[in-house]
Amino acid sequence: MATAALQAIRDSAPAVLPSLLLCDFGDLKGEVAELSAAGARVLHLDVMDGNFVPNLTYGMPIVEGLRRHTDLPLDVHLMITDPLAYAKPMVDAGADMLTFHVEAVRDPVETAGKLRDLGVGVGIALNPETPLASFGDAISMVDMALVMSVEAGFGGQAFNPIALEKLRSLRQDYPDLLLEIDGGIGVDTISLARAAGCDLFVVGSAIFRQDSYLAAIADLNAGIQTAARNESVRGLKREDHS
Ligand code: DX5
Ligand code: ZN
Repeated sequence: MATAALQAIRDSAPAVLPSLLLCDFGDLKGEVAELSAAGARVLHLDVMDGNFVPNLTYGMPIVEGLRRHTDLPLDVHLMITDPLAYAKPMVDAGADMLTFHVEAVRDPVETAGKLRDLGVGVGIALNPETPLASFGDAISMVDMALVMSVEAGFGGQAFNPIALEKLRSLRQDYPDLLLEIDGGIGVDTISLARAAGCDLFVVGSAIFRQDSYLAAIADLNAGIQTAARNESVRGLKREDHS
């Protein structure tokens, strides 16, 4: 059965998820309040271990600190070598969704199963160079697939369109699976990702490097709507030809 938080994540879609990688860690409380006021309905947390990726961010204390400041669902992206070692502490700290990288684990089915047992939402992620086939049977055990549109590790990288093909393929094969994209998402790329069937759009630079979170999220939401409008125009044109 889906937890209330997982249901809230589903209900938020299509949604922009601010990635708390480029935020002001000296003022987490203020950052969360501003993001929430700007319309964020889910927060994305990038956990990096300096081993699976060549960057080091934060762990349970920050998740726990955020949990005290917000009721928004916390979508935790584990860019770490041993996701199972930290899964339970992450859940205890307040994570609502745990996403592991398929490249990090030997047996994705076993990892997905053990994460499921913790009673949180489970996601499976892959980097741009990793083929979709590497998900194997684990894809049918998860609530969400995270398609990276940059190599995991750093904010501010350029969008890799290979992610769009993967999204289209996943959307076709798994109509009900939550699809998330992460990396290089801005006003233009968000619209492409939405058209490819994506539900959740993780955004770092295009929010945190802007003056106003409110304006940035509004612009991104407009980008999502652009895809919907183009889709309905295409639908109308198809009807014209029938
Ligand atoms: C990259 C992280 C992303 C990143 C996105 O490894 O998982 O969440 O913060 O940042 P932008 O939007 O700047 O690419
Ligand atoms: Zn991320």
